[in-house]
Amino acid sequence: MLVIACLRKLAFVLCLCLGGSVASAATVADEVIARAASPGDVLSVEVLLDATGRLGYTVKRHGKEVIAPSRLGFVLTNAPKLDRAFSLAKQSVSDHDETWEQPWGERQFVRNRYRELRVDAVQKARGDRHLLVVFRIYDDGVGFRYEFPEQPQLKSVKISDELTEFVVADQATAWWSVAGERENLEYPVQKTPLHAVALANTPMTVKTDTGVYIAFHEAALVDFASMWLRRVDGQKFRAYLTPGATGPAVERQAPFTTPWRTMQISDSAPGLYMSDLILNLNEPNKLGDVSWVKPYKYVGVWWEMHVEKSTWGTGPKHGATTANVKRYIDFAARHGFRGVLVEGWNKGWDGEWFGNGGDFSFTESHPDFDLPALSAYAAKKGVRLIGHHETGGNAAHYEDQMDAAYKLYARHGVDSVKSGYVTEAGTVQFKGADGTIHHGFSDSQEGTRHFMKAVTEAARYKLAVNTHEPIKDTGLRRTYPNWVSREGARGMEYNAWGNPINAPDHEANLVFTRMLSGPMDYTPGILSLAGQKGRPIHSTQARQLANFVVIYSPIQMAADLPENYEKYPAAFKFIKDVPVDWADTRVINGEPGDYATFARKDRHGQDWYVGAVTDEEARTLELPLSFLDAGKRYQAEIYRDGDQADFRTEKRFDLVVEKKKTVTSTDVLKLKLAPGGGQAIRFTPLK
Ligand code: NOJ
Ligand code: CA
Repeated sequence: MLVIACLRKLAFVLCLCLGGSVASAATVADEVIARAASPGDVLSVEVLLDATGRLGYTVKRHGKEVIAPSRLGFVLTNAPKLDRAFSLAKQSVSDHDETWEQPWGERQFVRNRYRELRVDAVQKARGDRHLLVVFRIYDDGVGFRYEFPEQPQLKSVKISDELTEFVVADQATAWWSVAGERENLEYPVQKTPLHAVALANTPMTVKTDTGVYIAFHEAALVDFASMWLRRVDGQKFRAYLTPGATGPAVERQAPFTTPWRTMQISDSAPGLYMSDLILNLNEPNKLGDVSWVKPYKYVGVWWEMHVEKSTWGTGPKHGATTANVKRYIDFAARHGFRGVLVEGWNKGWDGEWFGNGGDFSFTESHPDFDLPALSAYAAKKGVRLIGHHETGGNAAHYEDQMDAAYKLYARHGVDSVKSGYVTEAGTVQFKGADGTIHHGFSDSQEGTRHFMKAVTEAARYKLAVNTHEPIKDTGLRRTYPNWVSREGARGMEYNAWGNPINAPDHEANLVFTRMLSGPMDYTPGILSLAGQKGRPIHSTQARQLANFVVIYSPIQMAADLPENYEKYPAAFKFIKDVPVDWADTRVINGEPGDYATFARKDRHGQDWYVGAVTDEEARTLELPLSFLDAGKRYQAEIYRDGDQADFRTEKRFDLVVEKKKTVTSTDVLKLKLAPGGGQAIRFTPLK
């Protein structure tokens, strides 16, 4: 048994003689009350109790502390704090190992192998109140959550503050974006010393000077406030619960469990991405047969509004006209895209909808858009319309119409809907139990309830949901596989009108931060490489192709205008060929904000696809082909940056498409990436 109830008093003297600003040094007499290691003995957790009865924990990797003593607990508004005066009531350990199948995803089968450590702590002097902390310890990370059991002395729980800490032991660098600011999750990822982080969104990714990578996040965020990370001192962070729209951050009735607080831990950045911890900590599929949830590629009436070629609102430049949508349907049918997204089809776009949304009707079309005729036309051509519900952040108004809106789409064979919540952070309008409207964050407990309603109601109509301006992803796609994708970071739209537009290191940052949480509707494939008024975007053409492999989503938009795809048929071929559903995924190499190479295998064929991206620096990356089947010969179809390619010049269009007759799993390719560039490759087995 790896767990020892260690009754010895241990004196932890945190002597962090690492130079510079590190974790706050403290001398705390802690007792180790429980301990367990991961199945492969890579990570271990110790649960601590200090002299005042405060609970804490540490995490070690190969015996070396990664997370220094960090406190646990809560501040309540309707009862005394759950912090001091605890003692151990019970503990237990159990081993788990199962493999489950994803309906769609980065890989078909996911192994869920962990050791669980349950600690039941009691506050004898405070009315005998129990609080449980449950750790799941994997070889590539740790998750823990609190359980509030049913007990007469704490039935209703009002939480104002969570006291969970994360103290990073060694000096570290962080990749993070600010939380709670106007644009919600849509800030560039910044790289700073860990001790310079302020209030951060999760996932926040950290690399210690000793070479350990840690991504902090949460899993299964259900009916609870989302966790931001606030640096309180040195390298000590504390959970910061998103404020509630009315009262405390969280109000629940016991029994309930909190979301999992997660740390993916690896000796490489690719190792973070390869971890399935977030999905594994979510509940299995609750929707039953989800064969109606289809991965697909799509085009749509979208980029043309973002570059101001047309408008969402009515008038001479209205984009969502019956004639224009027919053009997109024809284009989709001709090139094998399943979906056509139509934005600006419904009433409500003409006024000030941003942050308002009260004028939107989700059942009434603009007069020049004929939903029944277009859905019938699309069906004849083997194409589906994709619905769109922009709410302007008015979740209450949307909920009022939700059932009718979903019903309308279902009646017309529309089986997926993109939703949007364009408003300033903290101003989403939620309806309280008494019918009054409250303004709050999409990350709040009210937000979790709204988004859950949107997704579960959609499932009743067999609709898949793609949320823009969403609550962050915490792996709920495992439980609700119709929540196929979301935005939740700066997408391609910033290259149309952003100030600034996305930097050349954007994708290399995203894959090791935002993408650790789940799929993103990034809307890649802007082969025209220009936003509004022809302003160049920070990319080469090859990089636009690579993004289809690098940025995972089971629904991928080919976001450019049909006429632009017709201009670049050679590049467009890759976009047509690349799948969206994968049997397997390998991250070959990568460093946050610098570069990344992904290899993914088609779930419905034998082909492998590779995508590599770099930042503003030119790089040559080695690609060992060991992921290919040994003994088989493959043809490689390579889409690479031309020798002159450079995101800063007109040479960003310099794309070379070439075929390598035969490669095998023992070959190593050299990928030459231009500044701001990338490379995409398709490997097809030869008969
Ligand atoms: C923001 C979304 O991210 C974008 O995709 C959409 O076109 C606009 N809102 C309008 O709904
Ligand atoms: Ca957006």
